[in-house]
Amino acid sequence: DAATSVNTTDFVGCLAAHLPPGIVYTQSSESYPSVLEFSIKNLRFVTPATPTPLVIVKATHATHVKVTVRCGAVHGVRVRPRSGGHDYEGLSYRSLDAARPFAIVDLAALRAIRVDVRSRSAWVESGATLGELYYGIANKSARLGFPAGVGPTVGVGGHLCGGGFGLMLRKHGLAADHVVDAVMVDAKGRLLDRAAMGEDHFWAIRGGGGGSFGIVVSWKLRLVRVPATVTVFTVHRPRNQSASDLLTKWQHVAPALPREMILRVVVQNQDAQFESLYLGRCTGVIATMTEMFPELGVTRRDCIEMSWIESVLYFAFYGTGKPKEMLLDRGTKPDRYFKGKSDFVHEPIPRGVWESTWSWFLEDGAGLLILDPFGGRMGSVAPSATPFPHRRALYNMQYYGFWFDNTTEASEQHMGWVRGLHREMEPYVSKSPRGAYVNYKDLDIGVNDYGGDGAGTSYEKARVWGEAYFKDNFERLAAVKAKVDPSDFFRNEQSIPPLPLQG
Ligand code: FDA
Repeated sequence: DAATSVNTTDFVGCLAAHLPPGIVYTQSSESYPSVLEFSIKNLRFVTPATPTPLVIVKATHATHVKVTVRCGAVHGVRVRPRSGGHDYEGLSYRSLDAARPFAIVDLAALRAIRVDVRSRSAWVESGATLGELYYGIANKSARLGFPAGVGPTVGVGGHLCGGGFGLMLRKHGLAADHVVDAVMVDAKGRLLDRAAMGEDHFWAIRGGGGGSFGIVVSWKLRLVRVPATVTVFTVHRPRNQSASDLLTKWQHVAPALPREMILRVVVQNQDAQFESLYLGRCTGVIATMTEMFPELGVTRRDCIEMSWIESVLYFAFYGTGKPKEMLLDRGTKPDRYFKGKSDFVHEPIPRGVWESTWSWFLEDGAGLLILDPFGGRMGSVAPSATPFPHRRALYNMQYYGFWFDNTTEASEQHMGWVRGLHREMEPYVSKSPRGAYVNYKDLDIGVNDYGGDGAGTSYEKARVWGEAYFKDNFERLAAVKAKVDPSDFFRNEQSIPPLPLQG
């Protein structure tokens, strides 16, 4: 807490005394830059001006996490966990506060996966990627799967902490809904399982956002059954082939489809790309589309039947016949700059708005909208069951801009595009507060302010972004934080502040 003075030399000494050599990287270590960059996904945060960690601890055992937290607490150096490094704002490896040193516990090497087919469960360590998890499950059983995100390089740790959704969300809800136990290191450096942390703390780590409630080392997941054959299709409907009409109708249809089907849309250039995963055979796809969305014109020729794990590859890499081992590729270097924002839509957006939105997609294709429909299982879970409150939305809308040029103009153009379109959509999306998804982290909506002395952030100020992510669940999250980390050791630009004592 504020009373603890910062002593970086003693902190590094503490790590050296209690950790094996070879897992602690200081800024003078030769491999520090490559260890740091290994899990960075966004080039926006690879600049000489980005404050980087004093130390990176590459944990290979849970005790390394404990030691780092304890040394940090004693010597006043805050610790940020990093699992897959996909944070949209880079908060797992950069800090906006250049004045205060921090350390990273990198969990990429803590990535064991133990699947138990008989009990349909798995223990997975936070540093595993979603691709490794899917691969590990499919290797043990072709009839089990897990309902998490689409990107195979996303880290299990950050993803589950923020909720996590993918193409089975309408049948099975959020990834975090399927967490049945977890092992974490708390702010006192204790290793706790679900029973030891208690139900409030366990509630908070399943969607309350990473980096606030401790460092989750491993998770016990309930796996879900998948059919032997699933069906995918992708159809393109350009603007001049009634894409606006189809988008308008899609908003009514997609959240009401049978749970076995998801029909998401990617809007890019002058084109709406409708992508679907159906947990069953092509005959089911055709029957459903004929009854509910004949205008889309999906035919048997559009269907591709495959196994569930092949569908994971299909959506990750757009194509068939790719080797499963591609799911194990974590990548080693960031390849793009990007900015994302998000909304939740509760009322269908009028056709005229879709029509005028096309003018935003004239340029070079480097900006897109991804529409992920809810309904099904999502709609039948109470908004307070986990910290993720947006269960009743028709769909999630993600704005995503990316670019490859290292120039200020490119950055301004693309950041401006994402922000501009987001601004334009304001009248048509959730209000009071306007929602956002914590896994698509966006510092535009507000950041914690620790003041010059670093004493603490204002709960009232944090409500502005906190209620966008968590609505009424924000207060409960802050109450949990006050209980489990009252001195706010685990802190970042959008971590949950402790709820101030009443009266
Ligand atoms: P990272 O390691 O950067 O951590 C994110 C945050 O959680 C940081 O604040 C970090 O400190 C904290 N944290 C990390 N590990 C922790 C741990 N073990 N315990 C406690 N806190 C921890 N989302 C989605 O729902 N569906 C999707 O399909 C996709 N697809 C996707 C594709 C791509 C290419 C990107 C870049 C991102 C996504 N996402 C997504 C968003 C993704 O779910 C989100 O960025 C996750 O937080 C990333 O988790 P990582 O572990 O990779 O991030």
